[in-house]
Amino acid sequence: MTAAAAAVRVRSAVTDAEYAALAGFLAQQAGLVFDQTRRPALAAIVADRIAATGAADLGAYLARISAPAGVEERQRLLDEVTIPETHFFRNPPQMEALRRRLLPELMRRAVARGRTLTIWSAGCSTGEEPYSLAMLAAEVAATLPEAPRVRVVATDLSTQAVAATERARYAGRSLALVDARSFERWFDEHDDGSFSVVPEVRGMVDVRLHNLVTDEPPFEPGEVDLVVCRNVTIYFSRETMRDLVGRFQAVLGAGGYLVVGHAETLWQVTDAFTLVTLGDAFAYRKDLPAAPEPVVDAPEPVAHTAPRREVRRTPLQRARESWPEAPAVAHRSADGVPDPDHATDLLRLAREALAQTRYAEAARLAAAAAAASPFEVDAYIVEGRARATVGDDEGALVALRKAVYLAPRAGHARFQLAGALARCGERAAAAREYRAAAVALPQTDQAELDDLLDGCDVQQLVVLCRRLADECDRRVAQDVP
Ligand SMILES: C[S@@+](CC[C@H](N)C(=O)[O-])C[C@H]1O[C@@H](n2cnc3c(N)ncnc32)[C@H](O)[C@@H]1O
Repeated sequence: MTAAAAAVRVRSAVTDAEYAALAGFLAQQAGLVFDQTRRPALAAIVADRIAATGAADLGAYLARISAPAGVEERQRLLDEVTIPETHFFRNPPQMEALRRRLLPELMRRAVARGRTLTIWSAGCSTGEEPYSLAMLAAEVAATLPEAPRVRVVATDLSTQAVAATERARYAGRSLALVDARSFERWFDEHDDGSFSVVPEVRGMVDVRLHNLVTDEPPFEPGEVDLVVCRNVTIYFSRETMRDLVGRFQAVLGAGGYLVVGHAETLWQVTDAFTLVTLGDAFAYRKDLPAAPEPVVDAPEPVAHTAPRREVRRTPLQRARESWPEAPAVAHRSADGVPDPDHATDLLRLAREALAQTRYAEAARLAAAAAAASPFEVDAYIVEGRARATVGDDEGALVALRKAVYLAPRAGHARFQLAGALARCGERAAAAREYRAAAVALPQTDQAELDDLLDGCDVQQLVVLCRRLADECDRRVAQDVP
């Protein structure tokens, strides 16, 4: 068979055995889980690679990338299958938490210990994340009486991503969250409208090709103060994630932090970290030794080891209770009847707050909208999302159950309800809900799913739902906590 004919066959009809071999290879090489929903996309990528390399068929291509001499083509395939979606200052509440809490705390500690502050941007994609971290660090350092040297180590599996990070030149969407002051301070503009990161910031960032799954971390034990690994582990299996988090733990110093993406969690992965809430964001702290040094502005820790149900009243619950509730009169007309017009306004404001990542405010406004218009499904969904994002899963459960009761076909509500159930330890119910979400998601308006998808397609989310449902069932069957 010619390579062109082989490519056509692979694109149109990969057999189950062939797909299993391909998916197994990628899981082993990069920890990436490719389920059936990603089959057409993966087949198309591999068909292109077969045509480009002249391989006789898929078996020959697999043999080539599995052999030591196939290292270049193996890398090329990994470059093609990874998803580089990113932008500067992604997740503003996390950026604020870094600026106001984590970086000042870590810098003071580094000064006290006379060491360099080391930040690892693990899975840095095209560089927007590590440069954002370096810019924040430079800003914070300028406000302190004494600041340590800062180095950001940026690593990624993809050679294309690493090359783009080294180039440090950006345009378009990835700059959307950069404000005028930061443009002025941290970027040089080019005639074609693109922007380069200034040398001062580039000099703080050390870029390396690195596979988080197969390579040892490029650090000594305890050398790192802050690991930022966001939106990387979403396609990793729980076992891969557990191994990786173990490696993060080993390279972090006592009191160091791990920051993950807003949709990622260490729940059921490890008990070795303490969840710390930071306004509308959260981070995981590697526990300090028994007699911790005093930390200025230390954030309030939240125990994250036991299922939330069994915790009587966590600091998080207390924090939730202290959120200002909307005044009762705000969502009623003068005669005390729910006021749908007012609800529409409140819901619009809640959505705006959510989009701008002011989660506590979004939850409060959405709750008020729901009270003013009790059949307004979106109000419960917005409230549930806002509460779940800051780790208030019990509060999210209440809102999301109402949403699903009112709109059983709202796939996004079902997906979020399933997540909240799982995190609260209600695994059998979570499995049922994940399966219901897998059915409902393809029928849900795409616009409702944009935030959830974050660059993936709906079929990938469906597969994730099935996988998570199976995982919940397995834990119920084995009675695993
Ligand atoms: C969606 S981007 C996230 C970028 C950035 N962290 C952010 O949140 O904006 C995911 C990145 O993870 C990288 N990645 C995936 N698997 C990896 C692995 N096994 N080792 C290192 N990087 C990996 C991909 O190449 C991609 O650049």
